[in-house]
Amino acid sequence: MKMLDYSAGRLHVFFVVLLQFVVVTHSSAAINTTWEEWKMKHSKVYDNETEFSYRRAVWTKNMNLVLKHNQEAAAGKHSFTLGLNPLSDMTAEEINQKLNGFKVEEAVHLRNYTFKELHFLPVPQSVDWRTDGLVSPVRNQGSCGSCWAFSSMGALEGQMKRRTGVLVPLSPQNLIDCSTTDGNYGCRGGFISKAFSYVIRNTGVDSERFYPYEQKNGKCRYSVKGKAGSCSDFHILPHGDEKTLQAVVASVGPVAVAVNAMLSSFHLYRGGLYNVPSCNPRLINHAVLVVGYGTDAGQEYWLVKNSWGTAWGEEGFIRLAKNKNNLCGIASFAVYPTL
Ligand SMILES: *[C@@H]1O[C@H](CO)[C@@H](O)[C@H](O)[C@H]1NC(C)=O
Ligand SMILES: *[C@@H]1O[C@H](CO)[C@@H](O)[C@H](O)[C@H]1NC(C)=O
Ligand SMILES: *[C@@H]1O[C@H](CO)[C@@H](O)[C@H](O)[C@H]1NC(C)=O
Repeated sequence: MKMLDYSAGRLHVFFVVLLQFVVVTHSSAAINTTWEEWKMKHSKVYDNETEFSYRRAVWTKNMNLVLKHNQEAAAGKHSFTLGLNPLSDMTAEEINQKLNGFKVEEAVHLRNYTFKELHFLPVPQSVDWRTDGLVSPVRNQGSCGSCWAFSSMGALEGQMKRRTGVLVPLSPQNLIDCSTTDGNYGCRGGFISKAFSYVIRNTGVDSERFYPYEQKNGKCRYSVKGKAGSCSDFHILPHGDEKTLQAVVASVGPVAVAVNAMLSSFHLYRGGLYNVPSCNPRLINHAVLVVGYGTDAGQEYWLVKNSWGTAWGEEGFIRLAKNKNNLCGIASFAVYPTL
């Protein structure tokens, strides 16, 4: 009996190995073509042969992850798909180091929120502030940990639009260059709350048009001539409270939040409802913007704007599972400014 089990196991292993070998052999030409196309599409040029080989190896690993995940998704095991995007020649560690500049020390504030009960209107089933023109086009932070500046300015843009009737993209570069004395670190990261602290102290922030994005730390060049936004205060929502976040999104507008964006599945997210139970709400590292919420096939989601360009996710957005115990920490650190 024991012998039989053993040999059956061996046969099974042999079969699996053989199958993998066949699959890999048959698809290597196709993978090469995909690599060439991907490189062209995203204008990838590498400095030397060593760099090229390394990037190709990283890309191949991500490619295999995408193929495997999407096969499982087709079999109904996942509610979202993965895809190649401009980040696909970087390891998860590199992306987390370079792009995810939300400072975790901000968690200090979690015990000291300043949220005040609003007189909420009845909360609708779904909200999408894009349709009301409160959301500016998706941006690309590039190789700079400035997510905190994009996220905070996204929330302020929404409030400015509500007040003035005009949607004016605000300048993350202004914050990168000018808010170090408020405790931010430019491309090395920053805090949503300290972004608003700067705007309050400075009594304004410039428009993107006046003070364009450069993807690197620079000298502060704020000028009142380019001023397009201001705020007088900001409020931190109760930690991990998705119900309150929903009420605020519905009645106030887009809210700046931070999430756990550490997993490869987040980096390679293509579309669908991102629902990864292992997305720990305590490991938040990336600031984004909640611009609405809704329901898809009976599953609730948050509609979230990222700053990794439109080639990532659903035209730059991600739908993140809602009311799943604060998945990815979506409600761990939510902030909105008041004018
Ligand atoms: C991949 O494709 C490129 C361009 O078509 C070709 O030069 C190269 O030899 C191919 N490499 C492999 C391993 O097939
Ligand atoms: C190849 O390029 C990489 C990335 O630019 C660089 O870090 C590395 O030093 C270069 N290696 C050689 C041998 O030039
Ligand atoms: C809590 O808020 C008070 C008043 O604004 C402030 O003085 C204090 O430093 C805050 N505590 C923490 C832990 O952030």
